[in-house]
Amino acid sequence: MTRENEYKRLLPSIKSLLEGENDEIANMANIAAVLKETFGFWWVGFYRVLGDELLLGPFQGPVACTRIKYGRGVCGSAWMRKEAIIVPDVELFEGHIACSAASKSEIVIPLFCKDEVLGVLDIDSAKLNDFDEVDEKYLTLIVKCLH
Ligand code: SME
Repeated sequence: MTRENEYKRLLPSIKSLLEGENDEIANMANIAAVLKETFGFWWVGFYRVLGDELLLGPFQGPVACTRIKYGRGVCGSAWMRKEAIIVPDVELFEGHIACSAASKSEIVIPLFCKDEVLGVLDIDSAKLNDFDEVDEKYLTLIVKCLH
């Protein structure tokens, strides 16, 4: 199955998984689990905005850095720019924060409430150039299920 078809299959099941549960942390935890299990990404997780930092939230994968300042790394940059960032090769992203040497490419999707960024979904792959606009499109739809 193509990744796009996997996303299409996943969307309704994520919606029903989250249905009836308002706790954001629990819902983030299940989204991270579903994405990790389905696609086998190296690291899948959330960071939540807390003051001028992002604080590590629910994730699946190896230990990660706990706090990221506004504008720092890929995650802090996506927060600052208020847009998704796709990094085909993490070594070429200036200021990239390496939590694991195995991570080769990355995508970060901001979570919004109106115009305000509440946090980000961060996914790392052990393969170079593993993310494109298809991932951005469907991951954006998936994080919208959190509202
Ligand atoms: N690479 C991220 C840091 C978080 S870890 O990848 C889990 C960044 O540059 O913001």
